[in-house]
Amino acid sequence: MAQTFAFDVYGTLIDTHGLVSSLERIAGEGATAFSQTWREKQLEYSFRRGLMKQYDTFARCTRDALEYTCRFYGVEPATDQIETLLQGYRTLPAFEDAGPALSDLKAAGHRVYAFSNGTAEAVETLLISAGIRELFHGVVSVDDVRSFKPDPGVYAHFLNTTGTHAKDAWLVSGNPFDIIGAVSAGMHAAWVRRSKETVFDPWGIEPDIIVPGLGQLKEHLI
Ligand code: 2OP
Repeated sequence: MAQTFAFDVYGTLIDTHGLVSSLERIAGEGATAFSQTWREKQLEYSFRRGLMKQYDTFARCTRDALEYTCRFYGVEPATDQIETLLQGYRTLPAFEDAGPALSDLKAAGHRVYAFSNGTAEAVETLLISAGIRELFHGVVSVDDVRSFKPDPGVYAHFLNTTGTHAKDAWLVSGNPFDIIGAVSAGMHAAWVRRSKETVFDPWGIEPDIIVPGLGQLKEHLI
């Protein structure tokens, strides 16, 4: 039976560490650690804005997190370097396994959506630039409800927008907090564990399946 898939974008389809080589210009050998702090802080800011009900766009979280990370590592990039990095974040690369996995699911008759903290405009730009936009039936953004994952309201928004019952919907994500949010909302979930070093949160709320990459989804879902 056809299922509806919600693909998380940043960190699942799109490589949030795709700017490491550009970051070397400002952070040198610390570029990988810089990139990790930037990503962690970006997510922390989204969680905090959700809790405080002080919504602003995910791009704002990304910009503020970049400023924090520069302060944390004691680097002071020029304004144009900051703007170049933020512009680069709008066209981050897709993981190589994204296109084939999306094509397989779509060809098998499933409905495939991008579901993200990013605004629809930002996600459309990313997917077009990565060459995978045409593989989706649509884009659903948390921006419509002015909150962030894992607020239960954003998963309800996905289900309402796509006209799907939770039992027929899958979230595919590399982010454990997103998996726990979706399962708590009644959806199925596939955790993409790209690195063996990534551990899952011990909350007693587990994904239905765990795959090492998007290429293995079809073994379970088609
Ligand atoms: C996304 O919503 C959580 O960053 C992740 O795309």
